[in-house]
Amino acid sequence: KHRILLDCDPGHDDAIAIFLALSSAEIELLGITATHGNVGIEHTVRNALLLTQLAETQTPVYAGAALPLIREPIQATRVHGKTGLQATGLPDLTRQPETLHAAQAIVKTVRENPGEITLVATGPLTNVALAFRLDPELPSLIRKLVWMGGSTTYGNVTPSAEFNAFADPHAAYIVFNSGIKVHQFGLNLTLQVMVREEHIQVLQAMNTEVGRISAELMGHYVQFYRDRYGLDGAALHDPCTIAYLIDPTLFSGQDYHVQVDIQEGPNFGRTVCDYWGGHETPNTWVAMEANSEEVMRLILERLATFR
Ligand code: BDR
Ligand code: CA
Repeated sequence: KHRILLDCDPGHDDAIAIFLALSSAEIELLGITATHGNVGIEHTVRNALLLTQLAETQTPVYAGAALPLIREPIQATRVHGKTGLQATGLPDLTRQPETLHAAQAIVKTVRENPGEITLVATGPLTNVALAFRLDPELPSLIRKLVWMGGSTTYGNVTPSAEFNAFADPHAAYIVFNSGIKVHQFGLNLTLQVMVREEHIQVLQAMNTEVGRISAELMGHYVQFYRDRYGLDGAALHDPCTIAYLIDPTLFSGQDYHVQVDIQEGPNFGRTVCDYWGGHETPNTWVAMEANSEEVMRLILERLATFR
């Protein structure tokens, strides 16, 4: 069983990652730490609370960084809407965030359970970098770090950079150079896992609040991909990290050296993968291939278990 902390910026695909984690016996979700990212921190915290409320759990939610470390903040409201959760009929919020800051919650949870906590990050790495700066020994005490971000190839927000990397390149730099082995799920991988109209219909047919809300979120998400890229599906980036923990055989990958470009220029925020090797010692396990059909099947099967 994986005991995890999920650092995220919900966010449509983050929402599915949260639901997948909460509906899987292989995962114990100890807490959600929210970061700025797709939308501002006030929204990501609220969304995390709303999503746990919908899933009827009391998972603690911690508010984290409102701003990146150095660069000016960016958001992805074009993809995720103004609030980050484009769904109608959301419940009134009844839950409250914890008082501890997300970065401190990461330090505290890992320190209390040395070697046992898997940290999953599906947004900019600001909170994780802050935690590593608060407690430099932390990287050696974390069981596993899994991150959706970067790419071995091209980007999405810029020709070379992926959103989570670009939204805080300096934080990503700190994490990749911390000595921890990052398990990276970049765009090169997540673009293989597409949610399509037929999946949305399955979500709808679940006839539950989680199914209905998920269908609505994925509807907007697929529409964005149709308008922006002319594709008939949308990449379900963030849930890949959780699916990997549930069933690692759904993915294959390899160890590479990955560096993060923090020079402000055309490659700002690019994760540079030493694909042919031999230049530097590998520091990252990079996911390369997904069994996409099975990943989608797993996600839908698990989301169907909500009442
Ligand atoms: C990443 O950026 C966000 O918009 C998504 O939630 C995902 O984490 C993909 O580039
Ligand atoms: Ca995200």
